[in-house]
Amino acid sequence: MIRPATIHDVPSIQQIINSHAELGKMLFKSFGQLYESLRDFGVYEADGEVVGCVALTIIWADLAEVRSLAVDETCRGRGIGRQLVEWSIQEARRLGIARLMALTYEQAFFEKLGFVVVPKETLPLKVWSDCVRCPKRDGCDEIAVLKELPDVVRVDQPAAPPTPRGVSIPVLSYAEPED
Ligand SMILES: CC(C)(COP(=O)(O)OP(=O)(O)OC[C@H]1O[C@@H](n2cnc3c(N)ncnc32)[C@H](O)[C@@H]1OP(=O)(O)O)[C@@H](O)C(=O)NCCC(=O)NCCS
Repeated sequence: MIRPATIHDVPSIQQIINSHAELGKMLFKSFGQLYESLRDFGVYEADGEVVGCVALTIIWADLAEVRSLAVDETCRGRGIGRQLVEWSIQEARRLGIARLMALTYEQAFFEKLGFVVVPKETLPLKVWSDCVRCPKRDGCDEIAVLKELPDVVRVDQPAAPPTPRGVSIPVLSYAEPED
């Protein structure tokens, strides 16, 4: 039922996302944004129609974000949202990424799936990479939730040795928050 999205799914994905964006539950997505990020997307298909979608976007070596999760209103409460998040978790495992996050208004739904609420400040790499470009950046009221995958081996944070001709590529670095 869940499969990686193809270019044919983009109009349906946009329709599902933007119908929720109109209600203030999600951010609007243009065709351009969807084409660019299409390889992040999984879709849930029922009777030949796409009725749900989710994207898993890599933020950093040990962090991926569950984004654009939405289930058509007529199909809610049948476990489709859960399966889409489980698909994302499977993708994170396949990629070797040990933590998943989401910014959401659906705290209780994510808690059922083993995510815990965390302060947004504990996800600085997310904030640096995306929030600066978000229209809600100065008044973000979404809740940050995080799920750790303890069975996935955490990678060392990458270093950036100079290239053979001595060019230094900057790498973001951050300190792990203290418990
Ligand atoms: C959130 C959403 C994806 C849930 O999809 P769904 O297919 O209805 O969810 P499921 O049927 O898989 O529910 C899984 C579990 O979560 C529970 N659940 C679902 N929505 C919930 C909610 N809003 N609050 C609390 N629990 C919820 C279900 O009761 C179910 O519990 P159970 O396993 O004990 O039976 C869907 O409501 C949606 O598309 N919302 C609008 C878009 C949105 O807000 N997306 C989140 C952006 S991060």
